[in-house]
Amino acid sequence: MRPKVTVIGAGHVGECTAMYLAEKNICDITIIDIVEDMPKGKGLDLCQAGPVHGYETVITGSNDFADIKGSDIVVHTAGLPRKPGMSREDLITSNADIIGAVSKDIKKYAPKAMVIMVANPLDIMTYHCWKITGFENHRVFGQAGVLDSIRFRTFVAWELGVSVADVQAMVLGGHGDTMVPLPRYTTVSGIPITELLPEDKIQAISDRTRVGGGEIVKLLKTGSAYYAPAAATTEMVDSVIRDRKRVMPCSVYLTGQYGVKDLYIGVPIVIGKDGVEKILEIKLNDEELKSLQHSAETYKETLKIIGY
Ligand code: NAI
Ligand code: 2OP
Repeated sequence: MRPKVTVIGAGHVGECTAMYLAEKNICDITIIDIVEDMPKGKGLDLCQAGPVHGYETVITGSNDFADIKGSDIVVHTAGLPRKPGMSREDLITSNADIIGAVSKDIKKYAPKAMVIMVANPLDIMTYHCWKITGFENHRVFGQAGVLDSIRFRTFVAWELGVSVADVQAMVLGGHGDTMVPLPRYTTVSGIPITELLPEDKIQAISDRTRVGGGEIVKLLKTGSAYYAPAAATTEMVDSVIRDRKRVMPCSVYLTGQYGVKDLYIGVPIVIGKDGVEKILEIKLNDEELKSLQHSAETYKETLKIIGY
């Protein structure tokens, strides 16, 4: 039996995640949405791309949450995206209701599943889902840092005129404008970018990364980014299914690491078959640590809006 991955929300991020995952040929996929029949149509369409892309992945669409039964992993993309002028935090009340309802269904139908949250505001919704499901924290975590890091990697590669494949980066903190790019830990084939780029260029790239999601919202006008978010989410699912032990920044529950407690926030982890297998506590300088803790502090305040 192949692992079962359920993608909840068959909108932009959900459908692209299902597509990238299907192409990996490592699991079967169920996609769930509340829009009548739409996920069934997308599932069928994706199956019919299999002969060209060479995958046998079965993608089944449904409007019935009972169909998430037996899921090994649930990717939660259901929720409203932002529009120009909105911050991710502006989505909090509408998305908290959606995430709350869906999380109850996950608990009911797939009590053994691992949940990868994608809906925004990401760190808050991951916490909310963890609370509602009551699952152990190693199997509820969120995608954001991988996306922010691949944005950073792209901008660095463009600035240096090198392959994006050779740039490695870590962006920590919350998935918002307080995120913390770490130039000291960003390398090009092992060479720190601090050796390759002047301070002002690194600053400009960090600033562009922090508002990278907003840049795309402004251009799209009707929603937010989805190709890179789906690619980032697929990397995480792949590392769990194939127990790859990839090291990625993910939003995870902290119990004192980096001086942060009882919050979900982005830090480097080892991700494998048990989900969050290890939280890596890397050495941060005073400024980096202060920025991470400041980012966490803002989320503590935001959680109060939904009663935590
Ligand atoms: P979208 O509007 O294209 O898709 C959302 C889908 O969720 C819709 O098809 C809608 O019918 C469905 N939905 C709503 N309520 C539902 C429910 N109760 N059960 C099942 N499905 C439900 O939006 P998009 O672009 O796919 O974004 C989805 C979410 O992901 C947004 O909250 C967005 O802000 C977030 N996002 C997060 C990223 C991250 O890095 N963490 C990156 C990109 C988007
Ligand atoms: C992004 O960063 C919307 O959170 C999403 O593109």
